[in-house]
Amino acid sequence: MASKLDALNRWVDEVARLTQPDRIHWCDGSEAEYQALVELMLDTGDLSELNPATHPNCYLHRSNPSDVARVEHLTFVCSRNADDAGPNNHWMAPEEAHQKIDALFAGCMKGRTLYVIPYCMGPIDSPLARCGVEISDSPYVVANMRIMTRMGEAALARIEREGSFVRGLHSTGDLDPAKRFIMHFPEELTIKSIGSGYGGNALLGKKCHALRIASWQARQEGWLAEHMLILGLESPQGETHYVAAAFPSACGKTNLAMLIPPAAYPGWKVWTIGDDICWMQPGPDGRLWAINPEAGFFGVAPGTSRSTNPNALAMLDRDAIFTNVAETADQQPWWEGLPEGKPATDWQGRDYDPANGPAAHPNSRFTVSAKQCPSWSPRAEDPQGVPISAIIFGGRRESLVPLVFEARDWKHGVLVGAAMGSETTAAATGAVGVLRRDSMAMKPFCGYNFADYFSHWLSLDKANAKLPRIFHVNWFRKGANGKFVWPGFGDNMRVLEWIVNRCKGGVGAVETPIGLLPRKEDLKLAGLGLGEAELELLLEVDHAGWAREYAGIGEYLESFGARTPALLQQEHARVSGELAASL
Ligand code: GDP
Ligand code: PGA
Ligand code: MN
Repeated sequence: MASKLDALNRWVDEVARLTQPDRIHWCDGSEAEYQALVELMLDTGDLSELNPATHPNCYLHRSNPSDVARVEHLTFVCSRNADDAGPNNHWMAPEEAHQKIDALFAGCMKGRTLYVIPYCMGPIDSPLARCGVEISDSPYVVANMRIMTRMGEAALARIEREGSFVRGLHSTGDLDPAKRFIMHFPEELTIKSIGSGYGGNALLGKKCHALRIASWQARQEGWLAEHMLILGLESPQGETHYVAAAFPSACGKTNLAMLIPPAAYPGWKVWTIGDDICWMQPGPDGRLWAINPEAGFFGVAPGTSRSTNPNALAMLDRDAIFTNVAETADQQPWWEGLPEGKPATDWQGRDYDPANGPAAHPNSRFTVSAKQCPSWSPRAEDPQGVPISAIIFGGRRESLVPLVFEARDWKHGVLVGAAMGSETTAAATGAVGVLRRDSMAMKPFCGYNFADYFSHWLSLDKANAKLPRIFHVNWFRKGANGKFVWPGFGDNMRVLEWIVNRCKGGVGAVETPIGLLPRKEDLKLAGLGLGEAELELLLEVDHAGWAREYAGIGEYLESFGARTPALLQQEHARVSGELAASL
C-alpha cells in the first residue's frame, strides 16, 4: 500500500535506499495488525505474555539496561542558526547532524522490516491536530504508537489531503550509547533518532514531534505546545472548569490528571483530557482552547497503586504494554509501591534480589489507551478542544516553595513559570534529586531558544485576550523527618478547589512578594491530620530564602543574554525589590 502522496512515497524510497530493509510494511492501525506484531514480538522475545487470567492482552517488554530513559545529552536541536536553538538546547549544524546520523542509519535495517507509521496528534477531525509519519524498524515502537496516537489509515488519509507532515526516522540501531542521537530539524519538520528504543527517544510523535517540533511551529503560528496535563473539574452543580498543569517528567502529571476527589468532596468529579502534552490556541472569544494531541498514556509505574491512583490501576489490568517492570511468580506485573503481590523476577529478568536494587526500574512505564481510563472525558475527542481557566506550574521542591500560590497577573505568571525549579528524576539519565531550573517543565522539550519562548508567552497578553490565571504548586515539601509533609494524590483536590474558586472570584488570598497565597481557612483541610506546624510550613513564605532564590533566578535569566525579554527582567526586578524591602 504505497501512498497517494508522492512526497511520502519518495521519502520512504529514499529512507529504504539508505537503511536497506528486507521488507516495507505500511501500517494500517488495525487490531489484526497489532495482534500480528504482538505474535512476532513474542516469537523474538521482545515481549513476554503476562498472566492472561489476571491481565488479558498485557505484555512485558524489557529494554536493554543501558536504554531506560530519555538521554538529554544526546538530544539536539539542529536549527540553521545556533542562537535559535538557544542555550537550553544542544545544537549541531544541520548538515553536520544529517551527515553524522545518516552514517549510522546506512544499512541499519538489513534483515529487518521498515514500518511506515502514519499518525495524527489530536482528534482526527480537529483543526488543532497535526500529522506525522514515523519510519521505524521496531515493532515495539509500532505497537506503542498505535496506543499513543491515532495511527493508521485515517491519519494517512488526512496526510494525503493536507499534503504535509512531520517526518520522523527511527531505528533502534545497535543500542550502543555511543551511537545514540535524537536530532530535530525544525526548519525541515524532520526528526531523526537512532540507538534507543525508549519511549521519549523512540515514539517520535510524543516529545520529539508534539513538543520540540510543535513548540517551534506554535511560536511561528501564535499558539502553544506545552508539557502539560489537562483536566476538567466538575462541581456538584455540574459546572466544569478546565485546568492545564506543567510539571517536569515524573513529578505528578499523570496522577493529577486522574485524581479521584476524597470523601470530603461529595459530588465532585475530575475528568481526564490529557496527562502529558497540551496544545493551546487563542479562540475567537479570547480564551485559550486546548487539545491533548495523544490518545494514550505512557505513565510511570512505580508508586501507582489503588491508594495513590486508582483510575490508573483500573486501566492496567487489560490491553496494556509494560516496560521494565518486575513480575510476580504468577506473571503479574509488579513495581515498588504496589501493596499486592511480591516480585519474583526483576526488570532485567533476574531472580529478584533486593541487593540488586529496586525490582522495577524507577522509570518503568505502562502504555495504555486513554479510552481505558475510567475518568476519560468525552470532551477529549472534541475537535475544538476545551477552554482553559487556570494554568498550574509545579516541581519537586523539598524546601522553600509553598504548597500553592497564585501569580498577580499574566506577566508575573510567565516569570513564575520561567523561574520554575525541580529536583531531577529517573525519567532522564543522570543524577537524581539535583535541583535545576526547568522553565515551564520544558527544559528538555522546548525546540527553540528559551528567551524567545518567554517572549512568545508574554505576547499572548493581547487586548482582547481572556487568559487563564496562573498558579504554582509543590506537592513535595519535606519535613525535618525527611518525609513529604503534604499527603498529595487525591488530597491535591483541596488545592484544585482553591484554584478554581480563585478563577471564579469566590475566595480570598494573602498578598506576598512571591504571589497570592491561601489563608489556612481558605483551604478545606479537615480530616487530613496535619498539625499546625506542618500547615505553617506548607503555607510559609521565607522572605530571606526567596530573596536568595530570586538572585539565582536573576542569574538564570541573564544566561539567555540580550534575547531575554525586558518585561520579564522588569518583573524579576519588581519581585526582587519587594522581597528586599520586606527583609
Ligand atoms: P508524570 O511523569 O509527571 O506524569 O508523573 P506521575 O504522575 O507519573 O508521577 C511520578 C511519580 O511521582 C510517581 O511515583 C507518583 O507516585 C509520584 N507522585 C505523583 N503525585 C504525587 C503527589 O501528589 N505526592 C507525592 N508524594 N508523590 C506523587
Ligand atoms: P513523562 O515523560 O515522565 O513526562 O511522562 C515521558 C518520557 O520521559 O519520555
Ligand atoms: Mn506521565
